[in-house]
Amino acid sequence: MEKRSVTVAAVDVEALERDAAAAVAAASTPEELDEIRIRYLGRRSELKQALRAVRDRETGMTLNAVRERLEAAFDTRETELERDQLAKRDQALDVTLPGTQLRRGRLHPLTQIRREVEDIFLGLGYEIIDSREVETVWHNFDALNQPLTHPSRSHRDTFYVDDDTLLRTHTSTGQIRVMEQRDPPIYIATLGRVYRRDTPSPRSTPNFHQVEALAVDRGITLADLKGTLMHFFRAMFGEGRDVRMRTSFFPFTEPSVEFDVTCFLCAGKGCAFCKHTGWFEMGGAGVVDPAVFERVGYDPEEWSGFAWGLGLDRIAAQRHGIPDIRMFWENDLRVLRQF
Ligand code: DAH
Repeated sequence: MEKRSVTVAAVDVEALERDAAAAVAAASTPEELDEIRIRYLGRRSELKQALRAVRDRETGMTLNAVRERLEAAFDTRETELERDQLAKRDQALDVTLPGTQLRRGRLHPLTQIRREVEDIFLGLGYEIIDSREVETVWHNFDALNQPLTHPSRSHRDTFYVDDDTLLRTHTSTGQIRVMEQRDPPIYIATLGRVYRRDTPSPRSTPNFHQVEALAVDRGITLADLKGTLMHFFRAMFGEGRDVRMRTSFFPFTEPSVEFDVTCFLCAGKGCAFCKHTGWFEMGGAGVVDPAVFERVGYDPEEWSGFAWGLGLDRIAAQRHGIPDIRMFWENDLRVLRQF
């Protein structure tokens, strides 16, 4: 028997659905698919016209079912085509090629050292204090018991703003600033720029950096100072480093010492860098002079303390084997990018 197609409202719905499905499958771009959608589902399409002419429920249901199936088929194909198109675009872009590398900034080697030093002090329970770079002569010299005749007070060694104001020559000023403001016990470190009228050379620049530590409490001795220095330099340069103290003189400490640390490069064996001594000179320290306590109104009978200071630029130079500390100031990116 000849298979007769189903004709609803004068439309061969089976043939229509078959044709539409074939056209949908053959569409190769979303634009093509849109045209096909208009042809089969648009306002003037055969199906829509038949639907508009529907008078009985059964015909309506049959035609609507065809419409729904076709709409679903169109939607599915549309998603497929869009995905294909995206995939093609990605191939054209070739996302496997490496992108343009953005250069990352980095911290200046001196800033890195400064932060490391701060971390060691924070680990010891010290507070990091900001002090000022423009100072009074009193904070920089007088309060620190510096004699009036000391050569470092001269205009040839120090940058003066006016007779009473200068650019601090050391971070020891921070000791006075803190002691003026608070009562003991005090455990602080202060870091920053200091200024001296030196001619730039491989070992000195007129502007450099120091760290200053101050501990004031009851019963503090030179042994506490040595223990703290030892801890500090082992944290900084590695276990097994040693600290050696030599007697010295500073007007703000009594007794005063200068301290050396096991040479960073040869670990104490002796090399050209440490002039074959195995030691590297680091800074000055001592037990706070009672005269300083009196200047800030502390009772020297009750309180005792130690203080020490050293140059950060020298630590950074040591750490990285930099032969000339002026390199830290030249901002040569070929140098700075190495850190
Ligand atoms: N202020 C000294 C300098 O710049 C370093 C120093 C020496 C700091 C002895 C101290 C100290 O706290 O006790 O050379």
